[in-house]
Amino acid sequence: MTLDLKRFERFKDEYLAKLTSSTIREAMIYSLDGGKRFRARLIFALLKTRSIDEKRGYHCALALEMIHAYSLIHDDLPCMDDDDMRRGKASCHIAFGEASAVLAGDALLTEAFRVITLDEDLTAAQKVSIINDYSSLAGAEGMVYGQELDLKSEGKELTKEEIITIERYKTGCLFKAATRAASRILEDDDLTFYDRLADELGIVFQMQDDLFDLTRSTEELGKPACSDLKDEKATALAIFDISELKDELDRRFAYIIGEIESHFIENFDILGLIQELKDR
Ligand code: IPE
Ligand code: IPE
Ligand code: MG
Ligand code: MG
Ligand code: MG
Repeated sequence: MTLDLKRFERFKDEYLAKLTSSTIREAMIYSLDGGKRFRARLIFALLKTRSIDEKRGYHCALALEMIHAYSLIHDDLPCMDDDDMRRGKASCHIAFGEASAVLAGDALLTEAFRVITLDEDLTAAQKVSIINDYSSLAGAEGMVYGQELDLKSEGKELTKEEIITIERYKTGCLFKAATRAASRILEDDDLTFYDRLADELGIVFQMQDDLFDLTRSTEELGKPACSDLKDEKATALAIFDISELKDELDRRFAYIIGEIESHFIENFDILGLIQELKDR
C-alpha cells in the first residue's frame, strides 16, 4: 500500500484544531481517531487510477470519514446497538455521556458538508454534485434507511434478499459516497460502474463484519464481539453458516477483482486495497 495516510491524518487534525474549543469538539476528535479509513482510502486509490494526487481527495475523504464516525457514534447508543466499545476504547457515549454523543454525531454530520464547500480544487458544480451524493446516500434514502431496516430486523427471520438489502443500505451507501466522490473529482461520467463497484464492496465489507462479530475477539475487533447475537440481528450468518459465508465472500471478491482488472489500467493501489480487505 503506497497511500500516505499520515498526511491525511495531519490534514484532519489541523482541520479539527481550527474548530472552536468545546466538549463536542473533543468528542468529535475522540470519535474520529482510529479506524481503518477504508472509505477515505477507497477515494485515494481511485484517484491513483488516473495518477491524481490523493491530496485532491482530502476534503471529500475527511467529510466522508466524519459522516462514517457520526454513524458509528449513533450506532453504539443504548437505543441502537448498545455497545460500550469502539475503535479499542470506550464508545463516545460512555466517554462523554449520551447527550454529548448525540451532539457530536450531529456536529460531525453537519461539519462534513462544510468541509466539502472548503475544497478549493473543486468547482462549484462539483461541490453541489458531491453534497447531493453524500446527503442522499447518508440520509433517509441511504445509510439511515439501512439502519432503520437493521433495527427492525432484530429478532426476525429475513430472506437472503432482505438481509442483502440491509447491508447494501447501511454500509454500501457510504461506500458509494466514496466512489461517487472519486468519480466527481476525476470528472468520470461512468457512474454506473462506480456505483456497482461500491455496492459490491459494501456487501462484502458488511458480510465480513457480520462474520467477524462471531469469529473474532473483542480485543481483535476493538468493539464488542457477539454484539449482533446479543441484539438478535438479522446478519449474513442467518443465511449462511461460517464456511458457506467464506465461500460466498471468495466468490464476491473474485468478481470485484475481475471488474477492477478489466476497468482500470493503473490498478495497483485499488487492487492492493481490495486485496488488503479480502485478507483482513
Ligand atoms: C464499521 O465500519 C461499521 C460497518 C459498516 C461494518 P469500519 O469497520 O470501517 O470501522 P472503522 O472505521 O475501521 O472503525
Ligand atoms: C453499522 O453496522 C453500520 C452503520 C451504518 C454504522 P454494525 O452495527 O454491524 O457496525 P458495528 O459492527 O457496530 O461496527
Ligand atoms: Mg448496527
Ligand atoms: Mg453496531
Ligand atoms: Mg457489525
